[in-house]
Amino acid sequence: MSNLHVVQHPLAQHLLTQLRNKHTPPEVFRSLTRKLTTILVIEATRDLPTETVSVETPLEETQGTVLSARLVVVPILRAGLGMLEAVVDLFPDVSVGYIGMERDHATAIANSYYLKLPPVEGRTVLLIDPMLATGGSVDQALAAIRSRGAERMILVCIVAAPEGVERIERHHPDVPIYTAALDRELNPAKYILPGIGDFGDRLYGT
Ligand code: PRP
Ligand code: URA
Repeated sequence: MSNLHVVQHPLAQHLLTQLRNKHTPPEVFRSLTRKLTTILVIEATRDLPTETVSVETPLEETQGTVLSARLVVVPILRAGLGMLEAVVDLFPDVSVGYIGMERDHATAIANSYYLKLPPVEGRTVLLIDPMLATGGSVDQALAAIRSRGAERMILVCIVAAPEGVERIERHHPDVPIYTAALDRELNPAKYILPGIGDFGDRLYGT
């Protein structure tokens, strides 16, 4: 069974189309990224564990449901930072870790330059990175989180390429991938086509 979930919600697709538009300026791009991430993360977390609690309404006591486990979120720097605020807004108790990965411009091979993780043992970890291209960055990040004992990992990205999806399904078959689009292919420089361009540059106007 494929672990790939392409979120087809009309609003998600509307926001994605605006992100793809090369005329969208950075401040709008950042806002679109936050909104789209909210939709993707709601889908990606639909089976988080819950527990039943009592709650008093102004009129009487009733039973309600609350989340029973704290989540960990890990953005891959830099571009994943654009998705972080949406997750923290949805899950104010979330613990945040950071992984810095940068692709070499000539080889497109990702190198890790920073790693700071909270305890992940036995926890559910959301890994967020907008672009799954060759899959090298996410592959290394998932391996680092797995080696620290995470119980469950979920990947949320905005656009995925077939090469990246195949790599993650091969190396991390237990990790579901939530995305707004499965794009056609990578170009020779390993950018996604049709894609969004360099997500970090568009987010930060660099
Ligand atoms: C981009 C993007 C992903 C990575 C995807 O980061 O944000 O992390 O490329 O490519 P891959 O699947 O082939 O590894 P980049 O290295 O450009 O760094 P940045 O976010 O700091 O711009
Ligand atoms: N990283 C990006 O920012 N965009 C791509 O298309 C591929 C990798």
